[in-house]
Amino acid sequence: MGQKAVFIQTFGCQMNEHDSEKIFRILEDRNYRLTEDINKADLIVVNTCSIREKAEHKVYSSLGRLKRLKEKNPQLIIGVGGCVAQQEGEKILHRVPHLDLVFGTHNIHKLPQLIDEVEESGKRLHETAMYDSIPSLTVPSLPVQNQIKSYVTIMQGCDNYCSYCIVPYVRGREMSRKSGEILEEIRRLSESGVKEVTLLGQNVNSYGKGVKGEMIFPELLRAVNKIDGLERIRFTTSHPKDLSEELTYSFRELDKLCEHIHLPVQSGSNSVLKVMKRGYTVEDYIRKVERLRKIRPDISITSDIIVGFPGEAEKDFEETLRLMETVKFDSVYSFKYSDRVETRASRLPEKINNDIKSKRLKTLQACQEKYTLARNRELEGKDLGVLVEGTSKTNPLRMTGRTRSNKVVNFEGFSHQVGCTISVRVRRAFLHSLEGEVC
Ligand code: SAH
Ligand code: SF4
Ligand code: F3S
Repeated sequence: MGQKAVFIQTFGCQMNEHDSEKIFRILEDRNYRLTEDINKADLIVVNTCSIREKAEHKVYSSLGRLKRLKEKNPQLIIGVGGCVAQQEGEKILHRVPHLDLVFGTHNIHKLPQLIDEVEESGKRLHETAMYDSIPSLTVPSLPVQNQIKSYVTIMQGCDNYCSYCIVPYVRGREMSRKSGEILEEIRRLSESGVKEVTLLGQNVNSYGKGVKGEMIFPELLRAVNKIDGLERIRFTTSHPKDLSEELTYSFRELDKLCEHIHLPVQSGSNSVLKVMKRGYTVEDYIRKVERLRKIRPDISITSDIIVGFPGEAEKDFEETLRLMETVKFDSVYSFKYSDRVETRASRLPEKINNDIKSKRLKTLQACQEKYTLARNRELEGKDLGVLVEGTSKTNPLRMTGRTRSNKVVNFEGFSHQVGCTISVRVRRAFLHSLEGEVC
């Protein structure tokens, strides 16, 4: 039989992006090739995110637009995976009549079998069972030719149950992958030319905890650091409550570990943090940031902040602004609080109205822009190592890459530099990127 074409649309976080890569790997073995043209697809997979209501709406409007394609080509199979699929299960089949298949976050490995079944029986299927160990965790990130960077899953799920968050419900309990398997995967990636890996998990700092005989996270980092050929290691996401002294010292000890940490603080008010069930205070957070900067002064620190959490008073919000002034993050992803089903916060009274949330978000973002720009400007005139990733999106004559601190740098260069780390002098700093020249 001839090759078939799959179009994959991804919403949500890096976990989902990586899951989409795994979905493609599995389908590739089944004679599918990737297409960028949705009109040419025999199979469309939509990998969904339900972290906020807006994210979920986007998924439904995108699914709605697929109706016309199904009408034109009744043989087309449309499948929905990811966190909305996990949360809604069969309900999505009722709501979106042109869908064929719904598969949950623990069922990626079953996709070929499910597709065969849809093809053979013409039935509309849903599979959202959750397991104590996930076969899809072991789907390796197989190297692709000329790939420079790769994600590597080290754990899945989350046991933290922050009161606003749906992730523990849609991704399941925390599970660590075996270190031997992770290291073998990274070795293979490195042998095939991958220079940078990002270790992925909802809370990487608790890697290996509670698993008998397994390494803990700083030990895993030390082992990854020894892999020949690999140049850069990143990880995401870290929970501030579990950021140990040992992990902080890794930023000084391990030459491949990049000086960037994403450390979501969520709020600068102790009373809000308490109701969020985050397990740290503002003072704990600041202490950890100070320690990181003492050990690695050039570390870049980024964060996530939620505005308008139930009961957040003006004074709480001002405390968040104050924390931002104290820490001066390199950048911040900020969100308006959104009610999620099943979460504790959704049952709290004192919801903040949308206008106030919008106003706070705007204030916060304007404030952060100043700090981001100031942090980037500190780099003007400096020579930084840049791992060249490709040509710039906006100008094909320019190259783009990232510093170890995860800042995008654009400069005039040549395509043979892709995959190399070169020294670039920063000429100008902007909000989202730096401009430089090869020195
Ligand atoms: N595991 C990561 C984050 C996962 S979700 C961590 O613990 O940091 C990414 C971000 O989405 C969170 O850090 C939080 O800022 C935001 N978020 C999660 N649930 C939300 C909700 N109900 N409303 C608004 N933002 C939310
Ligand atoms: Fe959600 Fe909290 Fe888990 Fe992060 S640590 S995924 S915010 S429950
Ligand atoms: Fe979204 Fe699921 Fe990631 S809810 S943020 S895709 S874990």
